[in-house]
Amino acid sequence: MIVSGSASQTLAAALAAELGEELAPVEYDRFPDGELLAAVPDFAAERAIVVASTVSSDAHLELLQLQDAAREAGAEEVVTVLPYMGYGRQDDAFEAGQPVSARAVARAISTGADRVLTVNPHESDVRRFFEPTAEAIDAAGRLAEPLPAGLVDPVFLAPDAGATELAGTVRDGYGTGDVDHFEKRRRSGTDVEVTPSDVDVAGRDVVVVDDIVATGSTMSEAIEHLEEPGRVFVACVHPLFVRNARVKLSRAGVETIYGTDTVEGPASAVSAAPAIADRLRQ
Ligand code: R5P
Repeated sequence: MIVSGSASQTLAAALAAELGEELAPVEYDRFPDGELLAAVPDFAAERAIVVASTVSSDAHLELLQLQDAAREAGAEEVVTVLPYMGYGRQDDAFEAGQPVSARAVARAISTGADRVLTVNPHESDVRRFFEPTAEAIDAAGRLAEPLPAGLVDPVFLAPDAGATELAGTVRDGYGTGDVDHFEKRRRSGTDVEVTPSDVDVAGRDVVVVDDIVATGSTMSEAIEHLEEPGRVFVACVHPLFVRNARVKLSRAGVETIYGTDTVEGPASAVSAAPAIADRLRQ
């Protein structure tokens, strides 16, 4: 049975359809003091596949409750799918006294799961914080599908070196184009400095590819360095879009943003369900 977190209902339903598995009834409630109560009344299956993007602290807590509720209801195996792993970018103590938050949340999730699947985690290494080590699924393969046909001499551009492989995956999916990357230095949570490469984008269509768009600072900074490009598109796995990210990208000249449903919203045109289902069938 597929058990959905409240932030992943569309993806959970798509996954249930892909696998031909039942979608468990779920209830998301809250006590008067604000404490959450997520429940799975009438859960009846040997395996629970809990699908929950941890896009907020509440979503984290809700996931722990759903894992526990499924076990209480008799599930012998709990498989947790983290379409988007919150706190995944806090994978180190960057300054003295800081926690390794990714490790802390991974440990908590691991206590209630027999197997954890992550979708395009920001750093693959974060998987080792889970016990057993989490599996990584690549949902970027289909990001090229909604791109318009006939892009002019396209460039698939990563705003930093770390996203180059992802840009290559989207280019391969599209079938033609160059791959290039800029360099990025983050000054703060919202302030980044991007150093462009010498790629000539004049008159060429550009698809800027990254794993996450959060504040949109990385993307908009990268786009500012494009000199006389043709059309500009954004493709990302996790369209988190916090604060004024959309406005920033529109003001930067982005025509369309394509993301997956690991984070559900208006830009989630591509479903990660087929990639997750493929892994679960193995
Ligand atoms: C970081 O290296 C990630 O790959 C993304 O570039 C980053 O998370 C995007 O964040 P923002 O949209 O806030 O710049």
